[in-house]
Amino acid sequence: MPPAKKPAKAKVKLPQPQLLRGFKDILPGDQPAWTWIRRLVDDLAVSYGFQRLDTPLVEMESLFVRSIGETSDIVEKEMFSFTDRGGDRVALRPETTASFARAYTEHGFINQPQPVKLYYFGPQFRYDRPQAGRFRQFYQFGYEIFGDPDPINDAQLIMMAYSLLNVELKLPVSVQVNSIGDKESRSRYLKVLTGYYRTRKNALCETCKERLTKNPLRLLDCKEKAKDCQELASQAPQTVDHLSDASRQHFVRLLEYLDELQIGYELNPRLVRGLDYYSNTVFEIWPARSPSAGEAGGPADEPEASQSALVGGGRYDGLVEMIGGRPTPAVGFAGGVERIVAQLYKHQVAIPPVAHYDVFLCQLGEQGRKKSLRLFEDMRRAGIRVAENLSKDSIKAQLEVANRLKCKYSIILGQKEIMDETILIRDMENGIQEVMDYNKAIVEVKKRIERMHTNHIVPPVVTPASTAPTETPAPPPDEPAVKS
Ligand code: HAM
Repeated sequence: MPPAKKPAKAKVKLPQPQLLRGFKDILPGDQPAWTWIRRLVDDLAVSYGFQRLDTPLVEMESLFVRSIGETSDIVEKEMFSFTDRGGDRVALRPETTASFARAYTEHGFINQPQPVKLYYFGPQFRYDRPQAGRFRQFYQFGYEIFGDPDPINDAQLIMMAYSLLNVELKLPVSVQVNSIGDKESRSRYLKVLTGYYRTRKNALCETCKERLTKNPLRLLDCKEKAKDCQELASQAPQTVDHLSDASRQHFVRLLEYLDELQIGYELNPRLVRGLDYYSNTVFEIWPARSPSAGEAGGPADEPEASQSALVGGGRYDGLVEMIGGRPTPAVGFAGGVERIVAQLYKHQVAIPPVAHYDVFLCQLGEQGRKKSLRLFEDMRRAGIRVAENLSKDSIKAQLEVANRLKCKYSIILGQKEIMDETILIRDMENGIQEVMDYNKAIVEVKKRIERMHTNHIVPPVVTPASTAPTETPAPPPDEPAVKS
């Protein structure tokens, strides 16, 4: 008997893999904005004497629990924690300050001349509820100063953040500053604060009722609108009225330095920050409210400024010791790149292009294409910013690309040029073409480009990808006279 046929398996269609919620691709169209920010972050680091430190994306979970605080939202609800194959509890970093504090001790930075100034740029992970400006993977850059308690550092960091956002990126912003005092001030203040809230407990939202016992300082920055939390917070005792002498002096000096730097700031008594490691100075930089927003906050569809902070930071004098190092004063801040990019687009800031090409290399026929392959390498090595489209046949199509890239010159290499050992150089603005000796081409083209740059012809700027109007390309020039 022939063997029974197996019933055909029904094909199960697997769902197409897609981006995870709260994660995003940074597309080529967005790269000019990202590259610009990255470059400014590096430039700022050089200006202010910061060295780059890259720490791993995965650390021991306990590093973050101990530093950010067990009752903080980040540790309670937002950590990407898991047990690795070796049985260790690890976490994707939700921020980088704690990793820097670990590295500071682990690599003996304390033995170097203080202060030690370090910076980073990289992804962070928080399992937050995705919404506008809130992602589960997002990028931060940050600057941290270890080993110096002087508020002049705090002032200079605020200046750096302000310079980057307002002076360089041209964003309208609002600087928010507060002091939550040292340990002594805070324990005194917390008694007063819990006293104030205990008699008003029934008016609080459920989260704030819990905060009253677990983390009372966070009562001040409750975002719940349905209950009376915000009203109560605005009338609550203020940290600045309960500062120790040392903390008061520290804060007064910081404000004097900010005045000296002529940075306009708002004293914000409700600014306490969501991470537990802070002491004395805390600050944030928010997008400035749109004039239509009025006193009460932004329009309904605009996230409240306090929830869309572009930069946040402060002093954390106890952190290094808290995770096992020697007592080390420290201060720093981090900026959120996605939120800054969104502001650049919103305000239609002109963003410099990632690359700018001076010359486009056009080829015609198989011989021209082959020789262009080599000429392209020679030009590139000679430091000429040259673009090509070697797989295209039509000269018209190639010149269209040259126009789109806003190249000043096109070099044309066809059958006739190969035979004559020449090239044709075309000025893309006026269409004038000249024949040139192939062997002198690189030197001559370089000379012209240098002349052009010294005449201060500024490279064009591009508008952001998502707001860019569809550009009408310049009409292609007529087919050039390259026929032999
Ligand atoms: P943070 O306030 O948690 O502070 O984050 C700093 C900035 O990162 C925020 O102002 C925001 O721009 C951005 N950010 C935070 N969470 C998200 C998210 N889920 N999606 C998009 N962007 C986000 C810190 O992380 C501290 N380590 C800052 C610091 C450095 N303090 C001292 N030194």
